[in-house]
Amino acid sequence: MYLGIDLGTTLMKCVVIGDNQEIICKTSSKNIPLSNLKSGWSEQDPKSWIIALNYCIKKLKKEINLKNIKSISFSGHMHGATCLDKNYDVIRKCILWNDTRSHNECNDIMNDKNVLNISGNIAMPGFTSPKILWLKNNELKNFKSIHKCLLPKDYLRFYITGEFYSDLSDASGTYWLDVKSRSWSKKLLQTTFMNLSQMPKTCEGTDQTGIVKKEISEKYGFDLKCKVYGGGGDNAAAAVGLGLYEEGDASISLGTSGVIFASTKKFLKNYNDAIHSFCHCLPNTWHLMSVMLSCTSNINWFIENFNSSLEEISLNLKKAIKSKNLIKNAPYYLPYLTGERTPINNPHVRASFNNVDISTTRSSMIYSLIEGISFALNDNYQALSKTKIKLENLYVIGGGSNNETWIKILASILNKNLAITETSDSMAAYGAAKIAFLGYNNLDHQKELKSPKVKKIIKKDSDLASILSDRFDKWKKFYTKT
Ligand code: XUL
Repeated sequence: MYLGIDLGTTLMKCVVIGDNQEIICKTSSKNIPLSNLKSGWSEQDPKSWIIALNYCIKKLKKEINLKNIKSISFSGHMHGATCLDKNYDVIRKCILWNDTRSHNECNDIMNDKNVLNISGNIAMPGFTSPKILWLKNNELKNFKSIHKCLLPKDYLRFYITGEFYSDLSDASGTYWLDVKSRSWSKKLLQTTFMNLSQMPKTCEGTDQTGIVKKEISEKYGFDLKCKVYGGGGDNAAAAVGLGLYEEGDASISLGTSGVIFASTKKFLKNYNDAIHSFCHCLPNTWHLMSVMLSCTSNINWFIENFNSSLEEISLNLKKAIKSKNLIKNAPYYLPYLTGERTPINNPHVRASFNNVDISTTRSSMIYSLIEGISFALNDNYQALSKTKIKLENLYVIGGGSNNETWIKILASILNKNLAITETSDSMAAYGAAKIAFLGYNNLDHQKELKSPKVKKIIKKDSDLASILSDRFDKWKKFYTKT
């Protein structure tokens, strides 16, 4: 058996697979708390990741004998700065991927135009290195005590093995990596006054990065020989779950963030539209990715603040797509709760309902919430299409993939058929388990990776597509106006 651990922003998910890459059992943690001390700030206490891990392991133990786990690998939310001091204690809460406080530091880093060529990306506040420069400018004592800077899932690896490693897909999101040559860049490290000794070693996702420590094997019941493999950033790991490594295959993830991920055979870039150009977690493969910062978090925000529920949103959507009048008169929602990356790269923009008038109802606002998120994904899709890579087979994953009406709206806006699969909502954990399987058995992903079964292909609705295409053009103008 092989265990994949996915450290998500709101939940940890674990999936155990067998030698046929079939799921044996899966589980998830309770909510992992987030702290948002100021607008644009987003932090998490690494202790809460260990609490989530303890909880998941306890649940897994009820279903399987953990001694039978041969190997473990990880997936996790990317970019977070988890800083350890010389005693390997966490210095401060981890500043997360959707925290935009370091926008000024991005400008400082980009002053030297060479950085664009080395990294293949523009420096965005979500990335790790500007967060560290922010620490230097605002929390000098913390900055000075950084002995190691780890990504969130790599902190879990350290906890389990005592080793410092990061796989290249996650390392790409630090802005310290030379993405083309797949190695740390001294020049990029210098832009934030950091050095190689403060970095973990880099590895491919399927490389071994140690074994489970004795204390951990005693605490959780793992075999002492249980091996641990590199893993991937959540989007790259989910792509492994889907079996995506060929050009033309892509995924749309409807999670806290909204991501379109496309594998590439070589290093490509389009930094003008804030497209991310990163290594894949599989050898000799790269990927392009568009990232919207708030996807399902808009839905959670609405539910919490307007006493709504997923059921209300689902019912409303079903009714809305049958009523052209409701759609035509609905307001326009910009889903930028915490700023945005692709394509506008604007940390200051915020969300808004636009064109609200006397005829606006709760129902039309709920419709426009989902429509606005989908329009932003279309904006991402168009930016990614400019790179000229083919986006042929599109799979939808993440929590949002459970709502078929939403996917119908999305298919109609994108003008594409969209596939949903059996394991759609825990794809990153499934991918991490597959990485553990590939690594342990020393298998070539090109021969061995199986795609999960397609549950359904959701086709566009032509009538809906034509109304939505007009509404998308109007929606785009509200960003410029606001
Ligand atoms: C990717 C990104 C998010 C996080 C959280 O660049 O910031 O997708 O990984 O899922």
